[in-house]
Amino acid sequence: MAQAQENSALHEMVAAVSRGAPEWRTCPHPAYAALREQDPVCRLTPPHGVETYLITRYDDARDALSDPRFSKDMRGALDTYHAVYGSFFDALDDNVLFSDPPRHTRLRRTLRGAFSPRRVEGMRGRITEITEALLAACREHNHVDLMSSFAFPLPIAVLCELMGIREADRPEILEQFGVVTRSRFDPSKKAELHAAEAWLQNRLGRLVQETRDHPSDSFLSDLVRAEDGLDDGELVASLWVLFFAGHKTTAYQIGNSVLHLLNRPEQLELLRRAPHLIPGAVEEIVRFEGSVETSTFRYAAEEAEIRGTVIPKGALVQIAISAANRDPQRFDSPDELDVTREGIQSTHLGFGHGTHYCLGAPLARLELEIALGRLLRDFPRLALADPEESAGAWLKGPVAAFRGLERLPVVMEPGRGGAEEVPVTAASRV
Ligand code: HEM
Repeated sequence: MAQAQENSALHEMVAAVSRGAPEWRTCPHPAYAALREQDPVCRLTPPHGVETYLITRYDDARDALSDPRFSKDMRGALDTYHAVYGSFFDALDDNVLFSDPPRHTRLRRTLRGAFSPRRVEGMRGRITEITEALLAACREHNHVDLMSSFAFPLPIAVLCELMGIREADRPEILEQFGVVTRSRFDPSKKAELHAAEAWLQNRLGRLVQETRDHPSDSFLSDLVRAEDGLDDGELVASLWVLFFAGHKTTAYQIGNSVLHLLNRPEQLELLRRAPHLIPGAVEEIVRFEGSVETSTFRYAAEEAEIRGTVIPKGALVQIAISAANRDPQRFDSPDELDVTREGIQSTHLGFGHGTHYCLGAPLARLELEIALGRLLRDFPRLALADPEESAGAWLKGPVAAFRGLERLPVVMEPGRGGAEEVPVTAASRV
């Protein structure tokens, strides 16, 4: 009897996870804990209809992230791609994130070359300037939604700088980019989606051509000049994936970090008193509440068995990074946020693992370190404007790719007054 009740509770939970039920999206961790325990390679039937297996234990997740049986090249599974993305396989998706070796190896090598540690560190000054300018506007308005006023515009501006996109060209590019990211999983917006994808392809193609004609010391110039260079189509798709992979991830991570720190005054105080702990805190928060909740899709190119569960050829495989990062078999007291936790950078899976490990991790770390550093230093009394609203603002929806906040209302300097919102721009909405 007890066993039957347990099974039916598990079934209900799996069904809730499959359809993206709001209570699960608001706080997925108890459901993940149960799945890790009772059904670590769990079969889901999501609304897109493709049989999907969700992996929740740390060891399995780490193995699966670099398991060559799980392919990322969706050209080998176009029907699945159409079902999940509601889109044709666009040339923009023909990039490093959707490819397998040896093509992946070649694309990644070239991108890595241009993404050198020297280039990333060289951006420190500009990232600091952009951060300070955005925070100065927040200070002026005092009551702001930190997501739209700061967390989103910062990585967008950094990406535009990285690619050498002129200020004047940014609003239109960001507008179209926003259309794509907002309509990707929405079948009713197919026409809009295709028009925006075509526009971006054309516009990024022009950017590549302009950079070929007038190279400088920019990141894109390095890419264009690379010896085992990419062709124009590959360059456009690479710019697209960097935008796609580098903006919401970083924006949501900033929001997650601020919310969790504001809710833990003792951890916040520790960081204020010892700012050298901030880089470690960034890693711990990526572990504790990373902005990439589940990996991007992989599909089983051949039948694979994990912990006795057979994943049939063609099924989708998703790795629940958020679940793996709180596996008590791997991390002590995993549900506690401890900014002094040691040795975390090399173990957590928040930036993935293996072949597709996040290419932008050094840049993301730098942005997070500067963003948190400046916020803590310059706004010692920063406070949540409405703790209840923030706690309920987690992203909803059936696709648990991102874990982040829709909004984060804060008061920069409590007691000072001022209640206008910072004006919404294309960068705030992407
Ligand atoms: C806090 C911010 C970020 C987080 C949490 C994050 C997380 C991840 C994760 C988990 C993956 C692996 C996905 C998988 O295997 O399915 C990944 C891949 C990737 N990320 Fe990030 N990312 C962040 C920021 C960035 C930034 C700033 C960029 C670039 C500007 C970037 C570019 C990429 C690219 C290109 C890949 C694909 C690499 C490949 O396929 O070889 N990411 N990221």
